[in-house]
Amino acid sequence: MIYDDGCLNVILHCNQITNQHKKLNIMDTTITQNNTTKTTTMDAKIGISKENRQAVADQLAKLLADEFVLYTKTRNAHWNIEGPDFHSMHIFFEGQYQQLDELMDSVAERIRKIGHYAPGTLTQVLQLTHLTEYGEGKNDSLGFIKELLEDHESIIEFLRGNINPFADTYKDLGTSDYITGLMEKHEEMAWMLRAHFRK
Ligand SMILES: [Fe+2]
Repeated sequence: MIYDDGCLNVILHCNQITNQHKKLNIMDTTITQNNTTKTTTMDAKIGISKENRQAVADQLAKLLADEFVLYTKTRNAHWNIEGPDFHSMHIFFEGQYQQLDELMDSVAERIRKIGHYAPGTLTQVLQLTHLTEYGEGKNDSLGFIKELLEDHESIIEFLRGNINPFADTYKDLGTSDYITGLMEKHEEMAWMLRAHFRK
């Protein structure tokens, strides 16, 4: 049975819980012996062991941090680009950071779907990321593009390296499939960056 908050209040007000020492676990709320509530995390029972979900969530946390840093770096490029191609590149970087915003959100929500919290502070992001936050390049388009491209390629390698372990080692076929699709999106974004270079 699923209880919402309103239902829970009705239950409390009607004194339907008569055993003061009994604990009821309803959704993510534990009713203690004093009828006070304490928020707990309800385990995600999705057919993947706790240890395996933890291992996958740890990898996704690093990925989320990388997405956040790359998103911020792409916004930096959008804001600070200079040169004769300013206008077209200003718009190009805007399109890329908008895509990264969506990808980042989907990674965080994937972590939640397997029963873990997403790292959501800038301190955590900088502790977890594989990427270098700030490059020393000039504010020209090819400088920004080169650095962003390297970051996308780094994320692609990370994702490719996790597809099989997620499925085979950790038995999480959903997240394996998810990062396969995510990798393809980064491959497309990397192509869009790479195509600016011509020998
Ligand atoms: Fe803008």
